[in-house]
Amino acid sequence: MAVYDPPAQDSGTFAHIQWGTTMAPIYGKITGWGAYAPGHIVTNHDLERTLDTSDEWIVQRTGIRERRIAGAQETTSTMAVKAGSSALAKANLPATDLDLILVATSSPDHFTPPVSSQVQAALGASNVPALTIVTGCTGFVYALVVAYQFIATGAYSNILVVGVELLSRFLNWQDRSMCVLFGDAAGAVVVQATDQPCGLKGFVLGSDGSQSQHIIMPAGGSARPFSADVLAEGSHYLQMNGREVFKFATRVVGPASGQALQHAGMGIEDVDWIIPHQANLRIIQAAAREMGLPLDRFVVNIDRYANTSAASIPLALAENLDYRRIKPADTLLLVSFGAGMTWAAAVVQMQPGAE
Ligand SMILES: CC(C)(COP(=O)(O)OP(=O)(O)OC[C@H]1O[C@@H](n2cnc3c(N)ncnc32)[C@H](O)[C@@H]1OP(=O)(O)O)[C@@H](O)C(=O)NCCC(=O)NCCS
Repeated sequence: MAVYDPPAQDSGTFAHIQWGTTMAPIYGKITGWGAYAPGHIVTNHDLERTLDTSDEWIVQRTGIRERRIAGAQETTSTMAVKAGSSALAKANLPATDLDLILVATSSPDHFTPPVSSQVQAALGASNVPALTIVTGCTGFVYALVVAYQFIATGAYSNILVVGVELLSRFLNWQDRSMCVLFGDAAGAVVVQATDQPCGLKGFVLGSDGSQSQHIIMPAGGSARPFSADVLAEGSHYLQMNGREVFKFATRVVGPASGQALQHAGMGIEDVDWIIPHQANLRIIQAAAREMGLPLDRFVVNIDRYANTSAASIPLALAENLDYRRIKPADTLLLVSFGAGMTWAAAVVQMQPGAE
């Protein structure tokens, strides 16, 4: 286990961290990745049997053909542990050597305890700090950016970042406007400190809470605690104003991508792959048009997994690394939007390559 033990501080300053100029830069290399999707596949045709919907409607409006749904014995933490264990195995890093675990999710096992601590215990990463990040579908990109800050300051060297979601337990399966859109999955990466230039080249994070009503679980929290009325209304289920979210997404994806690239001092031609949040194929197509790029520069797997929220980007990343479509030295643009409303974009070169 790596314990961060800061030396005595000098008159209130962080003497142990040489912010910026004097310290040699510390970079973060993605040394491991992993993903987990439950085995149970629910196709659009399966949903036609219980809902007033059609495969044609779902494919045309969203690009989704099927999704994975967690089994009764599975929980958010068990899925996170599967993806996290694969990422640690690929990095050849024992869980006990982790310095930090970040878990991005909006569908934890429980409100309390934090699911990140459950993941930490199940991985056997004794006493390693663990933090849950709740920013909706942008959670993984937010968490990855947070991980890189700890690496860059020299505070931590070995970080596990997980994006996981089990939203099928928070959906009303009678509501055709919502339940067809989401799936369950987990994805994870290991980020390790290195002196070789790579890692986070630029990023932008944003949030506009004034629009938060567009994706909301109205009840079950402190604003409206769970009650018999809540249960009768179904206001504990996830709700969304699809049209407003669609407009928001098409407004933020292009500018957020441009700002992250500008921050990186790079152009879109320097990027090998764009991995967008997988919420709707039409949103990805609109982003491709806005950026003047063919769709084949974008990683797309929404047809097979639907919207897996905070898991969608690490799932797409891990799957395409496993298929060797994405190479470990590629430069990636990750871009996401979601509840909050939030947005996040990051330019990441996973490992040192020919620069
Ligand atoms: C959800 C979404 C696919 C809906 O598409 P849309 O074109 O906006 O469709 P609407 O919600 O306006 O509904 C159009 C009609 O289809 C119907 N409809 C909704 N869901 C349906 C379904 N599963 N099957 C068949 N019909 C459906 C509606 O009832 C409506 O019928 P009406 O015109 O008779 O009232 C789209 O708005 C979307 O993808 N938004 C973004 C969602 C998103 O990105 N969420 C993730 C956030 S991280």
